[in-house]
Amino acid sequence: TEGAMPRFKTILVTGGAGYIGSHCVVDLLQNGHEVVAIDNFANAVGDDDGSPALRKVEEITGKKVTFYRADLLDKPQINDIFDKHSVECVVHFAALKAVGESMAQPLLYYQNNVLGMLNLLEVMRSHGCFQLVFSSSCTVYGEPERLPITEEHPTGKITNVYGRTKYFIEEMLKDLSVADERWNIISLRYFNPVGAHPSGLIGEDPTKEFTNLMPFMAQVALGKKPVLTVFGNDYNTPDGTGVRDYIHVMDLASGHVAALNLLSANHVGLKVYNLGTGKGVSVKQLVDVFERVTGTRIPLQYEARRLGDITAMWADASLARTELGWTTTRSVEEMCTDFWRWQTMNPDGYVKKNKTSVIVN
Ligand code: NAD
Ligand code: WQD
Repeated sequence: TEGAMPRFKTILVTGGAGYIGSHCVVDLLQNGHEVVAIDNFANAVGDDDGSPALRKVEEITGKKVTFYRADLLDKPQINDIFDKHSVECVVHFAALKAVGESMAQPLLYYQNNVLGMLNLLEVMRSHGCFQLVFSSSCTVYGEPERLPITEEHPTGKITNVYGRTKYFIEEMLKDLSVADERWNIISLRYFNPVGAHPSGLIGEDPTKEFTNLMPFMAQVALGKKPVLTVFGNDYNTPDGTGVRDYIHVMDLASGHVAALNLLSANHVGLKVYNLGTGKGVSVKQLVDVFERVTGTRIPLQYEARRLGDITAMWADASLARTELGWTTTRSVEEMCTDFWRWQTMNPDGYVKKNKTSVIVN
């Protein structure tokens, strides 16, 4: 390729105050993009004064983020933001993601995730913006038929509503890219994002109760929870515990920068990429590494398998390597060290608060 690659200037980041969104904004700013971020604080700390996570992002980068407290279900509000800014590309993180909650409140999930996406696509189209990076998930594959999982692996046999919202959106995006060739879309299927920015200034701080392994384990290490429950040690895996492809959130962030570079220079229609390391790690192995690098002890309690859990999954990440020129560089040790730095520097997260497990409506 000759000369400078055409690049997007202003990028709208939805869900920018959230875990992956805030880490990604760091990388976008450091790569010279201007960021307009929106979030409704459904699962992030913040108020009308803005997002503490994004204020930390500004501290890390020395750059400004334009932020709006906005809900994708409020279409006129989203329209106003597009009227104000010449958005060239959207990176769409905003979604609800709690699997258990999605089973109890399917309409809430279809409304927020699917209708939110529809509203966004319509506002984008009416403003002549057709460039999109979408946060999809390895959950669209369901129980894998073979490992590692390539992008060609069938999707749709999903055991939870949250995952189905991602699957339905991917189907919508397919239809859209066939119907109107102005669209230029990359759907990124994340495996299991963990870790935090190495500064310790930003990390994972949801307002809803979290159930994922690493944040839960860190709470146990901090003494805020007594014991880590391991869901099943009778899986058909080397040590009997579930196997996942954990990926450092900053590696995930750089995958978005790579996707934007591809989109800005090429017409791809719709492309799908796995973002994972290509390596499977068991629950037991992750606990061992965490204990070793943090010098903590994690008391374990083995219980029955969690309903809907998959035995083992990890990515074939070679397509992203060849087509995006992207690869992961951070080890499982760094995932644990960086997450622990964030947790110990900010034991209460961004601000002291009472966690609720209340299902919002
Ligand atoms: P997160 O909850 O931290 O971030 C999502 C953000 O979107 C939150 O800040 C939330 O307040 C906001 N939001 C939700 N609904 C909104 C709406 N209607 N309008 C405006 N803002 C809204 O979650 P995350 O882990 O950062 O996930 C980001 C994206 O990646 C999500 O789409 C998620 O489904 C996807 N994903 C996450 C994982 C994971 O394990 N964390 C794995 C695969 C895919
Ligand atoms: C990892 C492993 C558990 C907690 C979820 C979503 C998926 C995707 C990623 C968004 C499993 C075990 C966990 C605990 C445990 N998200 N575990 N004790 O289940 O792979 O995927 O996040 O798209 O859609 O379902 O992630 O972190 O919950 O679990 O033993 O207290 O840890 O059984 O083997 P999971 P997880």
